[in-house]
Amino acid sequence: MLTKRSQVLEESITLAIASLANELKAKGEDIISFSAGEPDFDTPKAIKNAAIAAIEKGCGKYTAVPGIKEVLKAVQTKLKKDNALDYETSEVVVNVGAKHSLFQCIECLVEKDDEVIIPTPYWVSYPEMVKFAEGKPVFIEGLEKNGFKITAEQLQKAITPKTKVLMLNSPSNPIGSIYRKKELLEIAEILKNTNIVVLSDEIYEKLSYDNTEITAFASLNEDTLKRTVTINGLSKCGAMPGWRFGYMASKNKELISAVKRLQGQSTSNICSVIQYAAIPALTGECDQDIETMRQAFEKRRNVALEILEKIPNISFYKPEGAFYLFINIQKIEKDSMKFCKKLLEEEKVAVVPGVGFGMDGYFRISYATSEDLIKKGLERIAKFIKNYN
Ligand SMILES: Cc1ncc(COP(=O)(O)O)c(C=O)c1O
Repeated sequence: MLTKRSQVLEESITLAIASLANELKAKGEDIISFSAGEPDFDTPKAIKNAAIAAIEKGCGKYTAVPGIKEVLKAVQTKLKKDNALDYETSEVVVNVGAKHSLFQCIECLVEKDDEVIIPTPYWVSYPEMVKFAEGKPVFIEGLEKNGFKITAEQLQKAITPKTKVLMLNSPSNPIGSIYRKKELLEIAEILKNTNIVVLSDEIYEKLSYDNTEITAFASLNEDTLKRTVTINGLSKCGAMPGWRFGYMASKNKELISAVKRLQGQSTSNICSVIQYAAIPALTGECDQDIETMRQAFEKRRNVALEILEKIPNISFYKPEGAFYLFINIQKIEKDSMKFCKKLLEEEKVAVVPGVGFGMDGYFRISYATSEDLIKKGLERIAKFIKNYN
């Protein structure tokens, strides 16, 4: 009965683990969850106030499909202010989260047998979106000691006449590594004489540590500006994951027009209230809230690293951004699903198996939780690893 297309989709492993952990918690079990892909901070006050004001004003009508002009202008301002990117408001579309932006771009760009290059480990949804579009994910794995970032040389080898899209994610989920400007320029040089579109997922952009510089791929030069779709949103850096606000900006008029048509025939505009609420987050009114959150994450990362460094037989890349740690347990267990299930059953700690990110023998923790819980949970993990058999 179902289409083949719908049957290729796997369930999101991160969402599944998070909901299992919540279920067990609701039953009264002492679960510590490191599975969340969202900040534990509340949404900033200015955003809530903007939403309330919009409701009071009566904003319940349909809006233009790509977004109200005020929010498109706010995205334009944000991209100029933070990323030195010049986009017209007609080159921006707001979507139901960055996941929706990515999904729609892939639907409009990729068809049967088109190849999409995905650096591994990857965010869980990239290959699923490509498979749904009947494309072929092509995985490249960088070196662990370099945060699994791919090199220009690796990219060159992976490109074929069928390559349509390159997925880039910096700061990355699940590793937290950040591509430096020099590395991006080298990648850009390889792409120069191709028609490859770069989907640059910059959703963790404001969460960078140790003063690591963030560079938007599109901002490198004229060529990258033309070939890149800049994708971002407010789930992580605006502490508003449940509100569902994402956006895309591109100089590719055909793509923008196709996405507008796809959105117009599926979701229509995103929730009108959220469009008004997003404006203060985009124009800088919440920068202090975001900075407070960033500092807390950096501190928690350091707390987590201090404990993890003492655990034998594991290794990990020191993250420079986002709020994850991707831990190598190959010396202990190659089957990450088995490891994570056992950890949840025996020590009541929820983490996400690496297999969901395309890499078995690893697990991901999210440190978007309190320092106390980080300490308590990591101590349980240390004990579990010590006695693992
Ligand atoms: C790398 C990456 N891109 C995109 C998303 C989706 O974000 P949104 O909540 O805006 O759909 C996530 C969420 O986990 C992510 O980790």
